[in-house]
Amino acid sequence: MRVRDALDRPMHDLRISLLDRCNFRCPYCMPETEFHEDYKFLTKSQRLTHEEILKVARVATSLGVSKLRLTGGEPLLDKKIVGLIRGLAGLPGVDDLALTTNAMLLEPIAQKLADAGLHRVTISLDSLDEQIFTQMSGGRGKLDQVLGGIAAAERAGLSPIKINVVVERGVNEHTVLDLLEHFRGTGHIVRLIEYMDVGNRNGWTMNQVVPSKELLEMVEAKWPLRRMDRNYPGEVARRYKYADGAGEIGFISSVTEPFCGSCSRARLSSDGMLYTCLFATQGTDLREPIRNGADDDELADILSRIWLQRADRYSELRRPDVAEHHALSKVEMYRIGG
Ligand code: GTP
Ligand code: 5AD
Ligand code: SF4
Ligand code: SF4
Repeated sequence: MRVRDALDRPMHDLRISLLDRCNFRCPYCMPETEFHEDYKFLTKSQRLTHEEILKVARVATSLGVSKLRLTGGEPLLDKKIVGLIRGLAGLPGVDDLALTTNAMLLEPIAQKLADAGLHRVTISLDSLDEQIFTQMSGGRGKLDQVLGGIAAAERAGLSPIKINVVVERGVNEHTVLDLLEHFRGTGHIVRLIEYMDVGNRNGWTMNQVVPSKELLEMVEAKWPLRRMDRNYPGEVARRYKYADGAGEIGFISSVTEPFCGSCSRARLSSDGMLYTCLFATQGTDLREPIRNGADDDELADILSRIWLQRADRYSELRRPDVAEHHALSKVEMYRIGG
């Protein structure tokens, strides 16, 4: 049975956050000042087990979900991730199984992930300038190791490999062209993302956003681009290709050109909350009914009820100039993985 929400959008993607921990401390996501040694992350018993995650994913596929993405925090911190991938890859109806990672831990495990049935990886990498990369990963990232991870993913066939770049005014915008140059001609797709006001901890202001239009002009001044069609309805990136044949590039403009109208993503946090928007102020606990013995039919009922009522369109309603809008207590990005 396929469900559609109050705005007639299907449930197409399920994004599964495996854990709330990360080995980076990107200032825009998990600033070190808040996420320090004493920060209380979820304990193992608070997190869904792999069996519980598989159950939610299986039920979601029965309601029309065909795309699964594993995120975090950093999903590769889960030592048993290969087994989970094998389980998810075996679910009927899954035609896209992807993973978002910062790639620090990717090199040794890339082939095992591919063998288990992972289709592709998306790498978060904000700059190739050593100093800026270090700063943007909160002093934790090693650029060589990340590039080694990308190379290993390529050897393992985890493609198309996408490189997600959050562009922040005055921080890394001047390194964008170098990064594009590096990946031109490799087959990897760089996507330039507008810095968003997710959560409440990154102190976002509109001044930090570099509108995609401006980035597009900057790129086109160097390499002319041609528009490409969407791969599928609801795709977040606007696709372009280099006119000289050096490959594809994308722009994700959720601040200046929101795409809520076709948003078909549900998000599961590692403690089993289901969120129907990246900017949600509340979710629905699935862990409790699961641990109280809900069977697949009961869980399907709960999921479809949540989806049928869904009317989220935060990015379209966002008012960067209105203080109360910022004060909303929104779920943090590291809990639902972007
Ligand atoms: P593909 O399947 O490769 O097209 O990617 P995806 O749609 O799964 O997107 P991905 O997870 O790579 O997201 C890239 C970035 O787009 C995220 O880090 C967010 O910044 C932004 N993004 C993704 N989904 C949403 C969404 O539903 N709403 C908003 N506002 N931004 C989103
Ligand atoms: N705005 C836009 N993208 C963000 N990400 C994390 N925080 C933000 C933000 N404030 C992206 C990361 C990664 C994905 C998990 O989310 O770069 O690609
Ligand atoms: Fe970790 Fe990604 Fe958040 Fe950076 S953006 S702290 S890599 S989850
Ligand atoms: Fe979807 Fe919410 Fe993002 Fe709009 S703001 S695209 S509804 S997740």
